[in-house]
Amino acid sequence: MTHPIHILGIESSCDDTSVAIVKTDGNVFETIFEKTASQTDLHAQYGGVIPELAGRAHCESIGPLLAEALQATEHIDAIAVTCMPGLITGLHVGVEAAKSLSYLTGTPLIGVHHIEGHIMSPLLNANITADEIQFPLIALVVSGGHTQLIHVRSFGSYEVIGDTRDDAAGECFDKIGKMMGFAYPGGPKISKAAVDQPQTIDLPRPMIHHDSLDFSFAGLKTAARYYLRDTPDTPIGEFASSVQAAIVDTLVSKTHRAALQMNAKTVFVVGGVSANPTLRTALTQSLEKKGIMLIAPELSHCTDNAAMIACAAARRALKQDYDAWNTLAASPSGTLPS
Ligand code: KG4
Ligand code: ZN
Repeated sequence: MTHPIHILGIESSCDDTSVAIVKTDGNVFETIFEKTASQTDLHAQYGGVIPELAGRAHCESIGPLLAEALQATEHIDAIAVTCMPGLITGLHVGVEAAKSLSYLTGTPLIGVHHIEGHIMSPLLNANITADEIQFPLIALVVSGGHTQLIHVRSFGSYEVIGDTRDDAAGECFDKIGKMMGFAYPGGPKISKAAVDQPQTIDLPRPMIHHDSLDFSFAGLKTAARYYLRDTPDTPIGEFASSVQAAIVDTLVSKTHRAALQMNAKTVFVVGGVSANPTLRTALTQSLEKKGIMLIAPELSHCTDNAAMIACAAARRALKQDYDAWNTLAASPSGTLPS
């Protein structure tokens, strides 16, 4: 049995500064410290994330969060930091803090792809262990910046098999939410407004019958804009429910198709939008008929967090496969390990 190690995770790629410590033997992942400074209120007044303000807010939060984390444990075996993709203003803050800490304490450093973090998030504090997961595995990654179907060959080996051709699902929720008068992020507000409301409005489900596994949400956003312009007295709950149904139907249909194509035994749904209860229920119903297991993260680990970044670094930390602190670069783009 592998001796458990402690990994310090740092996430600052968007609008959350998050620091966590995860204890793991590579099979079980337990959060022993986690704290996130959210910038939601700061950006809400602008209707979206302002990179310059995000960078400044990360600078203010990262030091105190790290100081608190370091008091919560006697020993850290590795430092994991999101190094791509994301807002460069935020990535730099996390990566430079991680590099400094690594250099000063002699603790090895591991750069993590943010999407690999989301993919590992269902294993955090889970009642299933990594070696109990059955492959083939498909991950539906649905966040504010990404809508992807990823074939997970094994943890650490990925192939993107479907992607959005324009907006991400979360971005679509947020932009339509803004049209409806909701502050950023609109996703959770639309989800709340839709509870027990009928889907009375027929909105498009772009590319749903298209053979590829790609998504497109720009047409839905435009249709929503015209509908609201032409029907200003639309009941908000019915509109929210109809928008949510259009997004959920599209996500479920493509995921179902991908799972059948790849003979998947397991599907992970991860990222901020995976907190949506209607999406979780619809995916479960669609996949369980085919004997495919759906696994989602705890609600607190759907949106960006540092614990998932620590999880994604575990494999490499246990193999002692480290990045040299001085060669790790924060990059605004990047590809998953393949
Ligand atoms: O993963 P995340 O925290 O950040 C990115 O990496 O983008 O995802 C944030 C996204 C936002 O677009 C937000 O509106 C969406 O997740 N979201 C939701 C819900 N909770 C968060 N969308 C729909 N329903 C929800 N309950
Ligand atoms: Zn994310």
